[in-house]
Amino acid sequence: MWLMTITVGVVTLVLVTWLRDYVRRWRMPPGPFFWPIFGNLSLFAGKFYLTFIDLAKKYGDVFSLKQGMTDVVVLNSLDAIREAFVKKGVEFAGRPTFVSADIFTEGGKDIAFTDYSPTWKLHRKLFHTAIRGYASGENLQNKVHESLEETIAEFSKMEGQAVDLEDYIYKLVYNVICSAAFGVRYNMDDKDFNTLMKVSKDSAEVFGEGILADVFPSLRFLPTPGITAIQKIVRPFLDIMQHHLDQHRETFDPNNLRDITDHMIKAQKDAEEEGMQDINSLTDTHLRQTIADIFGGGTDTTILTLRWAVLFLSAHPEIQEKVAAELDSVVGRDRLPELSDREATPYTEATIHEVMRMGSIAPSSLPHTTTVDTTLRGHRIPQGTWIMPNLWAVHHDPDTWGDPDVFRPERFLDENGKPIPKPPALMPFSAGRRACPGEAVGKADTFLLLGGLVQNFCFSIPEGEGPPDLTPDEKGGGVTSLPSPYKVVMTCRK
Ligand code: HEM
Repeated sequence: MWLMTITVGVVTLVLVTWLRDYVRRWRMPPGPFFWPIFGNLSLFAGKFYLTFIDLAKKYGDVFSLKQGMTDVVVLNSLDAIREAFVKKGVEFAGRPTFVSADIFTEGGKDIAFTDYSPTWKLHRKLFHTAIRGYASGENLQNKVHESLEETIAEFSKMEGQAVDLEDYIYKLVYNVICSAAFGVRYNMDDKDFNTLMKVSKDSAEVFGEGILADVFPSLRFLPTPGITAIQKIVRPFLDIMQHHLDQHRETFDPNNLRDITDHMIKAQKDAEEEGMQDINSLTDTHLRQTIADIFGGGTDTTILTLRWAVLFLSAHPEIQEKVAAELDSVVGRDRLPELSDREATPYTEATIHEVMRMGSIAPSSLPHTTTVDTTLRGHRIPQGTWIMPNLWAVHHDPDTWGDPDVFRPERFLDENGKPIPKPPALMPFSAGRRACPGEAVGKADTFLLLGGLVQNFCFSIPEGEGPPDLTPDEKGGGVTSLPSPYKVVMTCRK
């Protein structure tokens, strides 16, 4: 009898919740039927940004889904994203809390996974100041050149061999960002370098597979595979960040700020001395997390962009030759490309734009939430609804680009080879209040690194191998667009 009562009770509860969810959908953007508890979970499997493009054909470019019991509104076009993120900026500037991000960010104490709040604003401001001082202009250029020189020497030794460059590209980019963030440079066999690289590769895989506790937060206390994996990944990563913070504290000199970590320590000390009101948002955990954001945001994104760039250029030797010829005529062979060369190298810049469009390394960006009850295209969107912008759809819209699946840098140039104004539909850094604060660094880094590599080497697909797969690897799921592992042969140009 009691079993019967429990069953009836559970079924009733499920049905009532389901009904409540349908009522809550009233006047929200349209969307497919969803199941009780599980919602539209199957639609979030694999490269879901492609599934979203199909769904938009049926429901329009703003539609609703349920990820488990969470309401998600997908924005599948440039107009929808701009209307939400730019026109209604603050209303769509929230960030959801989810279990895996909470573990990584020690309870949302970073920039990327903190909700729209005064703490978030303070840390974004600090981020900008620190980046301006230590990872921009000539300072950044010097760090890139130092790392490039080392890499060029390493690559020269591998001339003619078919090599997977992934780990070398990791080292190249880590040495740029790590010297700006905490003044260190790594060798390939360095323990910390290998730990950080493993953290990055493992995280991409775990997030790509999806984490059940992010959909059903009550599972956070159970050792589900995703959460166990995240807990294992996060500890060594945070230990390395903390180690640098401790070391910097010991040798801190306010009159000689060496890098971003020193700058963050100074901001904390200033807040302590000047009235304390910011002090609760400038704890050691916040500092460690902001440094982790600069490290995480600045490395994985640039590494992926470079990996896509080398792959696209190897698959399109004629485009690679045009980039190399332009660099030859503007930069020559006696020095590495500099930031001041960017204006005179429109073809190289256009190629980078095309890599960012075709590669779309953050195909669904990061999810936002609505900070208040709001509307979009006449649809009701309650406060706290998850908002997913489909950047992949914007970058691959045939109405905008004509031939979106063709790698063609010329689309960013006029008939005289001069750059056209940046099309609004190119938005690898997203848009609005939460748009990537590292855009200028990301672009400058990519120009200097890719320019230096193509100036020195010709990359080609190993002989006898067919055309490479230019579609994102399944491993990245819907979160990251990763190239499938590939090898290239390098020939020195000098
Ligand atoms: C090719 C390079 C890069 C790409 C394509 C990229 C892309 C993105 C995207 C799509 C977002 C999410 C924006 C949103 O929520 O709407 C983001 C956020 C962020 N990025 Fe980047 N990024 C790049 C480089 C960088 C660099 C170099 C840094 C740091 C030096 C960085 C730091 C961050 C941070 C801290 C956030 C969180 C911003 C917030 O939540 O307010 N990124 N990035």
